[in-house]
Amino acid sequence: NKCWVVIPAAGVGARMQADRPKQYLPLVGKTVIEHTLACFLEHPAVVGIVVAISEGDPYWAELTATTLSEWENVYTAPGGRERADSVLNALDYLANTLQVNADTSVLVHDAARPCLSRPDVDKLLAEGMEETAGAILAVPVRDTMKRAQLDTQRIAHTEERNGLWHALTPQMARLGVLQDALTHALQMGLSVTDEASALEQFGLHPILVEGDARNIKITRPADLALATFFLMEAAN
Ligand code: C5P
Repeated sequence: NKCWVVIPAAGVGARMQADRPKQYLPLVGKTVIEHTLACFLEHPAVVGIVVAISEGDPYWAELTATTLSEWENVYTAPGGRERADSVLNALDYLANTLQVNADTSVLVHDAARPCLSRPDVDKLLAEGMEETAGAILAVPVRDTMKRAQLDTQRIAHTEERNGLWHALTPQMARLGVLQDALTHALQMGLSVTDEASALEQFGLHPILVEGDARNIKITRPADLALATFFLMEAAN
């Protein structure tokens, strides 16, 4: 049971207020994206990885010429305007250029999530491989969730917390289904902040696989300190 991995890495990371996109910031001796890739590079189920990169991105070129140069199964696709466009470009590259079969499982994982653990990848693969509707890593919400009134910062009501989950990545689906779902969602102008939302809008109900809450997305400066702690902890 094999799969492919797609890494959207074409964002600018404006909220980090750094001098370069967040996936290239230094983190425990490497860049963020090298930690992210590490989990997949040596995984026996992973056939290869397609990374969506912005046009003219000098940092990726440097990595592929140096630390990533020995990996022959790492490919590059052009990034798009939104995350979903970047993912779709990478899926099209898999289907059209690499001629990967439409029934093949694909894991989509944010470049900005460097603390993904091997056990979580294995759990997602075990629970998601036979699942045609898809599967995602997620963690149950712990805080009380408020819905604001439209256009105000006053509380409209409290959401029922029971049954609410944070969606993480990787998110897993069959190549052909995910291409169709993302194409449909983008054509309809629907909001697609993850793969599952495109699948949902396509009438599918992916399964929630409970993952590790340490699989955070680097978004703001404090997240780097947290990721540093988690990676050091995992190394010990
Ligand atoms: O901005 P956000 O944190 O939601 O980005 C999640 C992931 O999607 C990041 O790894 C980022 O590089 C990627 N992305 C992309 N193409 C875009 C926007 C974001 O590949 N146009």
